This record gives sequence, C-alpha cells and structure tokens, in this order.
Amino acid sequence: MAYHTTVKDFLADHLQGPHKAALTRMLDDIINACKKIAIAIDSGALEGNMGSLASENIQGEVQKVLDVMTNNIFIESNQRSGYIAAMASEEVDNVIEIPEKLKKNGKYLLLFDPLDGSSNVNVNISVGTIFSILMSPSANPILADFLQPGVSQLCAGYALYGTSTMLVFTTGNGVSGFTLDIESGEFYLTHPNMQIATDTQEFAVNMSNYRFWQEPVQRYIDECLQGEEGDRKKDFNMRWVASMVAEMHRILIRGGVFMYPIDSKLQTQGGKLRLMYEANPISYIVEQAGGLATTGTQRILEIVPTHIHQRVPVIMGSKSEVERIISYHQRKIRH
Ligand code: AHG
Ligand code: MN
Ligand code: MN
Repeated sequence: MAYHTTVKDFLADHLQGPHKAALTRMLDDIINACKKIAIAIDSGALEGNMGSLASENIQGEVQKVLDVMTNNIFIESNQRSGYIAAMASEEVDNVIEIPEKLKKNGKYLLLFDPLDGSSNVNVNISVGTIFSILMSPSANPILADFLQPGVSQLCAGYALYGTSTMLVFTTGNGVSGFTLDIESGEFYLTHPNMQIATDTQEFAVNMSNYRFWQEPVQRYIDECLQGEEGDRKKDFNMRWVASMVAEMHRILIRGGVFMYPIDSKLQTQGGKLRLMYEANPISYIVEQAGGLATTGTQRILEIVPTHIHQRVPVIMGSKSEVERIISYHQRKIRH
C-alpha cells in the first residue's frame, strides 16, 4: 500500500497546544463510532434496517431506522472518554447528558448529525456523519452553553460512507482526508492539505426549488445555465446528490459551489440545513480549505446562534463563485 500515515500518527505529529490529548482521544472515539456506522450502513438491508420509523425528530422529519441506530452508536462511543461534558444531535431535542457513572468533569461539547443525507440510505447512495467540537463553558452544560458561533469550533469534520469510507477534519490548521482500509480498520492519510479550487464550472442546488428562491440566487443560476452564450462566457455542469457531505467532499476534491439558499417555502424556519451540526462544521472545513461559506449576506461562522436546532441558508465552496453570489445579494440590498 502506498500510504503509511495513520490518523494516530498524523495527530501525534501535527497537533499542538493545550487540547492535544483531549482532541486525540475524542477523535479516536469519533473514528470508532464512524467505523461502526459504516458497518451498520453496509449491512443495512441484510439486517432489515433500511426503513422508516413512526417517530419524527424535533425538526418534524420522519426518522429512518438508521437515523436512530447511528445516533445511538455515536452517543455510546463518545460518552466514555471523560473529555466530553455533553452532546447535541440532530436526532435529539435537548442536551444529551453524560450518564452520572461516566461523568468526569468533561470540558468539551460534541455536536453531530449522525446520518446526513438519510433519504439516500435505502437507494444505496452516499451518506455521511458530521461533527463539531466546542469548549464547554460549564461542567454541567445546558442548551444555552452550546450556542457559540462557528468561529469557536476547536475541531470539525465528517465521515463519508461512499465508494470508500473517508474521514475529513480540521483542527484549525488546514484540512486532512483519510481513507479507511477495511482490512486493517485503520484510516490512512490519503488527502493531505485539501484545498478548494478558487474557480469552478460546477454548481449543486436542488433546482426544483427555483421558483421559490430569491432574485440573487435565481440570477446566479440563470447565468450558469446561459453558459457560453451568457455573461459568464463558460458552460457549467450541475450535480445534486442530496447528501451535503457527499456534495461538499466532491467540492473539496474538484471545486464547485453548493447551495441550500433561503426560499419562500423555508422562510418561517430560516432555511433547510441546521447551523450547529451541519452548516458550521462544514463551513469551518470549507474556510480552512480556502473556500467561503455564507448565507448570502453573512459569514456562516459568525452567526450567533439562538437555538440548537436553528436552520440557516447555505452557499459555500469555491471562493470566486461565492464572492460573486455575495455581490449579487449586496446589489439587491442597495436597490
Ligand atoms: P439530513 O438527512 O441530515 O436531514 O440532511 C439532508 C440535507 C442535506 O444533506 C441535503 O443536501 C439536503 O438535505 C437534501 O435536500 P433535498 O431533499 O431538498 O434534496
Ligand atoms: Mn444532515
Ligand atoms: Mn441527519
């Protein structure tokens, strides 16, 4: 095999500062959770786990069997280290407390979407897990302690269960990608220093929402569709996987822009994607890889959250395209 650096080697060599021991252990637990989740997803149909449950999560979305299974795997794997004070998940209404007998005055908060793109599980398309680590302001955190802007994240990452299982994360010093060797169970560094190309000719958006979008986003997509014959003078390609993790991984590899903008259907809920465990961790990775992440009018990482399950509009990826979309929004405000 051409690759030799495991995640453990990488962390030993690259992590510095007061959080080194804690991050090393927390990432090890996260990795073990993601390996278990990969197995659960792989054997989903064989185990009869591809269906939906009668329950809904706090967002009013029908839960899949695997949403709940992966949520439980993630909690179980991450509650024993003693470093984590509490967790928050897309699938759980309130703070997930560490059981009394496992509590050791943890100093960190772990936020996660255990299964991103879960509408794709029963059609065998890539899904992921997203996570974010914050400092805990208190030893017994309440929901308000989680409401920190994305710039406060110590670490953020995702696992992608695709043609191979990958782990991509940042601790604020660039973005590194690791691929799971299923024979040894080790993740090896295969994608050091991931960078998002500044320019792109590829966009990802759910086009069926076109008529509900605001004018700046419609204008941007109109110009992409006009291609060579329009102002952009180049043809664009489109992709829509409907798993943000898969979409953003593609953008890290070959550039592109991903959008789930505000639209008139989403106005009351503020957007589709969740700030704390979807938009913030992925935005941190995007910025660390040289890209930009915005709502259209505000840098996502600077939003001061008001609710743990808050939703936000998301526009992110290649820098010059995101800058263009921001400028279209500014023009709208001036009119
Ligand atoms: P989740 O499965 O965690 O609820 O997230 C799904 C999100 C995101 O991953 C994806 O980009 C988007 O929802 C898909 O939306 P559409 O159903 O509009 O395609
Ligand atoms: Mn999600
Ligand atoms: Mn999810």
